[in-house]
Amino acid sequence: MENQKKVMLSGIKPTGDLTLGSYLGAIKNWAERAEQYDCYYFMADLHAITVRNDPATLRRRTLEQLAQYIACGLNPEKNTLFIQSHVHQHAELGWVLNCYAMFGELSRMTQFKDKSAKNADNINGGLFTYPCLMAADILLYQPDVVPVGDDQKQHVELARNIVQRFNGVYGDVFKMPEPYVPKVGARIMNLVDPKSKMSKSDDLDTGRVLVMDDPAVIMKQFKRAITDSDTEKCVRYDPENKPGVANLMQIYASVTGKSFEEIEKEFDGLGYGAFKPAVGEAVVECLRPIREETRRLLDDKGYLEGVYRAGAEKASYVANKTLRKVYKKVGFLSQ
Ligand code: TRP
Repeated sequence: MENQKKVMLSGIKPTGDLTLGSYLGAIKNWAERAEQYDCYYFMADLHAITVRNDPATLRRRTLEQLAQYIACGLNPEKNTLFIQSHVHQHAELGWVLNCYAMFGELSRMTQFKDKSAKNADNINGGLFTYPCLMAADILLYQPDVVPVGDDQKQHVELARNIVQRFNGVYGDVFKMPEPYVPKVGARIMNLVDPKSKMSKSDDLDTGRVLVMDDPAVIMKQFKRAITDSDTEKCVRYDPENKPGVANLMQIYASVTGKSFEEIEKEFDGLGYGAFKPAVGEAVVECLRPIREETRRLLDDKGYLEGVYRAGAEKASYVANKTLRKVYKKVGFLSQ
């Protein structure tokens, strides 16, 4: 029955253009879930400002991201798509949860440590308490499942600790969320530095591929992808010793649906010279319809506005129910 569907929620920060990594690692798998789950997806613009952004760029990217989500197959009729800052309950619950997360546990977050090392001149409070806002994003919707990349699992764990602590004091207020890391395609690495994740914050010249990149650019990126330095020169899945090849195989597997074994057979005796452009071509064909649909949607601003307004309305309705409950529990006088 419609109302008994389980709830699922996820978000992505609009701090950069969508990479092939986030498409294969997350968004690609989101479309089909609408059949089974009541799905909420949002553009995490509140999270985006933990680092400095040009305001016009942030606005543009937020809208582009929405268009891309839809082009990636998220049907707005079947999913609730919204922009985080349009649903004020996120910031409000985020504040409350700040008071239920410990300095010690926030200090242990790997992402905080990494980010503060990278942005030594702007280690702001938001960067530190980011996981509390993320916990609020999640808990407002009482989801059963939260699909995230590997790097966000620790934040979902923290949200679980908050639930335990909060519910321990006030009773069953929040539902315990489960992180879910999709298997194939969960972690696409950088093409020239296969030890680090393909990130939207990587520079243009480094090994990342964007969903909106032109085919020629994509082909160039794959042709110069790092394979490995061993002498074997054969396409074999060995992430320990051949991380570059393993990453390309992972990408190829995700876009073609082939297994690693099938890929090994397909390129048996062919070497990397044939393998790299084949991966590039498969990626180009996979991204082409998405790029074209995104462009079409961006030319129809009125439609996109309609989508995010309706999304925010539905999301706030649900979020507000949780927030009112929380405000009552912690002792705020009702209005
Ligand atoms: N922190 C996530 C990221 O950097 C984005 C995010 C924000 C998110 N809030 C969330 C993901 C809630 C899942 C659920 O990718």
